[in-house]
Amino acid sequence: MGFSKTVVIGVCGGIAAYKALDVISDLKKKNININVIMTKNATKFVTPLTFQALSQNMVVTDMFAEPKAWEIQHISLAKKADLMLILPATANIIGKVANGIADDMLSTTIMATKAPVIFAPAMNTNMFANPIVKENINKLKQHGYNFVSPSSGRLACGDVGEGKLADTKLISAIVCSMLYDIKDMTEKRVLVTAGPTISPIDPVRYLSNKSTGKMGYAIAEEARDRGAKVTLISGPTSLEHPFGINVINVKTNEEMYNEVLKHFDSQDIVIKSAAVADYKVEQYSPKKIKKNNERLEIKLIKDNDILKKLGELKTKQILVGFAAESNDLIENAEAKLRNKNLDYIVANDITSSDTGFASDNNKVVILSKHGEIINLDKMPKKMVARELFNFINV
Ligand code: CTP
Repeated sequence: MGFSKTVVIGVCGGIAAYKALDVISDLKKKNININVIMTKNATKFVTPLTFQALSQNMVVTDMFAEPKAWEIQHISLAKKADLMLILPATANIIGKVANGIADDMLSTTIMATKAPVIFAPAMNTNMFANPIVKENINKLKQHGYNFVSPSSGRLACGDVGEGKLADTKLISAIVCSMLYDIKDMTEKRVLVTAGPTISPIDPVRYLSNKSTGKMGYAIAEEARDRGAKVTLISGPTSLEHPFGINVINVKTNEEMYNEVLKHFDSQDIVIKSAAVADYKVEQYSPKKIKKNNERLEIKLIKDNDILKKLGELKTKQILVGFAAESNDLIENAEAKLRNKNLDYIVANDITSSDTGFASDNNKVVILSKHGEIINLDKMPKKMVARELFNFINV
């Protein structure tokens, strides 16, 4: 992703220590450099070697180990960090930092850094409810430390309640949005549509398509990371609700049409990456269709072309469409750009199996109404999203 940022992850001694591996793996995929500091107790849960292998950096566990470089390690990591993430943050580390104690590598580095620090607490529910822990957390918040609140659920000790480490995807998203230094869309309102729509046939069956929503979600997240206020209108997908985005779930073309139109006026940029069904079943059967006949004919009728409607209604909005094509990519995309009165169109060739639908990668050509064109290499969808906003040049 072109990041050359460093996140120092402090792993403390808790059963959720292994979950730091998921976050490291997420961040590494975005080319973020990771340095891990483990407390002594953390090494009883996961070995330093595991973190070393995944972060591809030496793991620091001991403040008085022979220095690997001339710099004093806790000072050098404190300076090197663009952000520190403490995961899992135990009651112990929270208590130590809140009370100015710096007696090991992790607490010393937290104390010495000027970078933002995020604590992701995970602990027994009674510990988390303890007023001393609450007081320490409040004190740290007042001093500008950040927290990702734990969720509720069944904890490793068998208790049920608050104290479970927040979703690691949420933690990674927060880290990325805090690390991100391009905040060029803070004044913008962005509407993104994603995923497929469905046309119900009877109470159990429907017609749909292969869209997974990944491209649209990546666009919505990119806009969020750049500071925009994002509304995501999503057809049915298995993707998690992205943090910090207003997600509106819809199923049919009509529901998407209504929601998009309801929000259109207030938007600056509208990106229609959803794979909207063009046809719907003429006669929905309220009863389940029985297999009584050898042949079954279902008549389809044309449904709304949402993007075309937006092209007619648009005033100040920058309107971006997608074109999924199996042949004559550029010609078909140019025609859609003109016919639907778009400002930009993102065209992708859906015949390639390692890009497009369901893949994490995409290979697209972006065209503007002024005849500009960029031909991007195959890259992760998040990077396509970034290139798109760079091109739109908001
Ligand atoms: N789109 C839409 N409403 C539809 C169909 C498509 O808003 N009923 C939008 C899609 O979100 C996408 C763009 O139009 O941004 C192009 O979608 P695509 O399926 O490639 O094109 P169609 O216009 O449906 O044309 P065709 O299927 O004939 O290629």
